Amino acid sequence: MAVTVASAPGKIILFGEHAVVYGQPAIAVPVTAVQAKARVQPDISAPSSRILVWAEQIGLDAALDELPIDNPLAAAVRAALVALGVPRPPAFRLHVSSTIPLAGGMGSGAAVSVAIVRAVSDFVGRPLADEQVNQIAFEVEKLHHGTPSGIDNTVVTYAQPVYFVKGRPVERLEVRRPLHWLIADSGLPAPTAETVGDVRRGWQADPGRYETLFSEIGLLARQAREALAAGDMAELGRLMNANQALLQQLDVSSATLDALTTAALAAGAAGAKLSGGGRGGNVIALVDEPQAAQVREALLAAGAKTIIDTRLTRPRVE
Ligand code: MEV
Repeated sequence: MAVTVASAPGKIILFGEHAVVYGQPAIAVPVTAVQAKARVQPDISAPSSRILVWAEQIGLDAALDELPIDNPLAAAVRAALVALGVPRPPAFRLHVSSTIPLAGGMGSGAAVSVAIVRAVSDFVGRPLADEQVNQIAFEVEKLHHGTPSGIDNTVVTYAQPVYFVKGRPVERLEVRRPLHWLIADSGLPAPTAETVGDVRRGWQADPGRYETLFSEIGLLARQAREALAAGDMAELGRLMNANQALLQQLDVSSATLDALTTAALAAGAAGAKLSGGGRGGNVIALVDEPQAAQVREALLAAGAKTIIDTRLTRPRVE
């Protein structure tokens, strides 16, 4: 059996995080500059069906059988083997690595799952369809944070911009003109399980207030879809700022993230907001080419640890 390798991109959410968990639309795009990678290598000297999992970035080097049920890497391997109907594959060694910032709100968990499922299914000679890969990655997402919407695994699996509503087929997103975002890493972890849990507790305590906020965020995502189709960058920037204000009201921003968005706007970004679960992780700033360099400098001066560029250049049709 041959070595197989699969990779999957990171992602950013342009509009609609958190509200998407409650059925509102959201928009996300893949970030191919960062990738998770899984490599499966036959282990001919090993006892049959022994599977070793190695991911040095998280200090993991163990036999699959020894890993707990809620270990996300092990869960992805096990779920893939169940879906493939191959409970006892030839022995193999799985190596997982990633350039996607860990706990950065950039979908690293989903990308690792997708890469693992693809590499394992290719290894046993039965590549799974995208829908199956997406479903398995969604199940593993539940281990990362209990009530995922499914947007992370979807954008990462299909590796294309998505207009996403929980439980519905992915919709086409039209993009009229190229757009450029700077993704600034705050250096703080984004505790997605914590923020998703806090928003849920807030919603349970005051459903009226939270549902109003979710609906307002959902409206922004719908308007953003129109603005993307029209190529209206000024409107997109305004919508991003409005989304950030609502995320602040959901209490998922932080002083660090607010300082980054303020710096980006002062340097000429068309809009800026946190992306993903919030409190830490990344801020995204929409920039026109003439302003890109000064916005980058301003983000770094305000404490951004790294900056990744991402561009949305072409429409994709389902
Ligand atoms: C995390 O990338 C996005 C959240 O909306 C959670 C989810 O949709 O599962 C915060």
